[in-house]
Amino acid sequence: MKISVIGSGYVGLVTGTGFVKLGNEVIFVDVDERKVEMINNAQPPIYEEGLEELMKQFKGKYHATKDYRKAILNSDVTFICVGTPSREDGSIDLTYVKQVAKELGKALREKKNYHVVVVKSTVLPGTTEEIVKPILENYSDKKAFQDFGLAMNPEFLREGIALSDFLNPDRIVIGVQDERAKRVLEELYAPINAPKLFTDIKTAEMIKYASNAFLATKISFANEIGNICKKLGIDSWKVFEGVGLDHRISPHFFRTGIGWGGSCFPKDTRALIRKAEELGEEPLILKAVVEVNERQPLKLIELLKKHIPELKGKTIGVLGLAFKPDTDDVRETRAHVVVKKLLEEEARVIAYDPQAMENFKRFYPDVGENIEYASSGEEVLNRSDAVLIVTEWSEFEELDYSGKIVIDGRRVRKAEETAKVYEGVCW
Ligand code: UDX
Repeated sequence: MKISVIGSGYVGLVTGTGFVKLGNEVIFVDVDERKVEMINNAQPPIYEEGLEELMKQFKGKYHATKDYRKAILNSDVTFICVGTPSREDGSIDLTYVKQVAKELGKALREKKNYHVVVVKSTVLPGTTEEIVKPILENYSDKKAFQDFGLAMNPEFLREGIALSDFLNPDRIVIGVQDERAKRVLEELYAPINAPKLFTDIKTAEMIKYASNAFLATKISFANEIGNICKKLGIDSWKVFEGVGLDHRISPHFFRTGIGWGGSCFPKDTRALIRKAEELGEEPLILKAVVEVNERQPLKLIELLKKHIPELKGKTIGVLGLAFKPDTDDVRETRAHVVVKKLLEEEARVIAYDPQAMENFKRFYPDVGENIEYASSGEEVLNRSDAVLIVTEWSEFEELDYSGKIVIDGRRVRKAEETAKVYEGVCW
């Protein structure tokens, strides 16, 4: 099939490249000239495991352009994969989705054959039908579900293993209301062996929010229990090993520590809270989930102060700045909260991350420009009075922590075994 993918960020790029691997032809559309050029040179503009290899292998089966019209006219299905960031007040910013819908509508006006528009961007329930559909219909002068297909297909891609999540998903959720569009999407996803759940459009939108909110809840719940365990001298990781053996619960997403960050959980939980409030609901659990997560990184500093009560003038090492290992992404990273607090306490900070130092400096200039960066984990250990582990990069497992005060936010076993003073946040 011929597919156009609008938005060549991490979701668009992974989805498009995944479809290429499944035997389709893909046109990526992006407003950013640099990204378009890079993709056309088989160079992924983001770091994602296995992506570059696939892009090199299938060069010629895809290309990128800034021209919406051409891309839409030359494809049968369009996936909208643009970002839906948070506004200052936590509500969702639909500027990009609306812009794309407008361009799509204009192109659809000229289109002779049947076309399916699929929203993959994370949007609140009701958005596809109440916002995207009218824009498409106005600009195309055509009727959705009749003259063109409209569907919602959320992504469940974890950064770092996004390609493998695309090709071997736990499930595929497709919100679709007309038979013709349903058949197109069934055919498109036929090569993937996974349960396929067909729902109406709003339900598909809600499944994405409910999934992310539940995973965030699971982690915050584990952290709350973990904090109690810590006071009682109980190992929370053992506790959740035991809890997770119950098949109704599952062992995943119970890793206690300094909490969750990234491009999805914080943004999506906030947007769902705002939506609930708008509807006159009081989302008590969701609010607590966020609050527990906001407090969690500060536990690292509390523990540090048990060993070094006065941080002023001390050099504190920070291992890891990315929001999780194997990515250079620093969005809503717990490292930001930790480093900010250290600087407030007038500590000197020396940090190291294998991938994310540049991004950290650029994304958080308020703190990123006021710390020193080391060229390795060893250097951080050698030059600091105490070390905080913020991201569990596998190379931090190899370091020799002997003689050091280590406060561990992610449970790096080697640190636990070799540090002179070891404190884990929840264990
Ligand atoms: C998440 C969802 O997993 C994915 O389905 C969705 O499409 C996008 O959001 P991602 O943000 O890439 O993916 O990362 P994920 O691996 O889910 O981790 C999110 C955060 O939770 C990280 O900061 C991680 O360190 C933290 N986490 C995860 C924990 O603290 N404990 C856990 O047990 C699991």
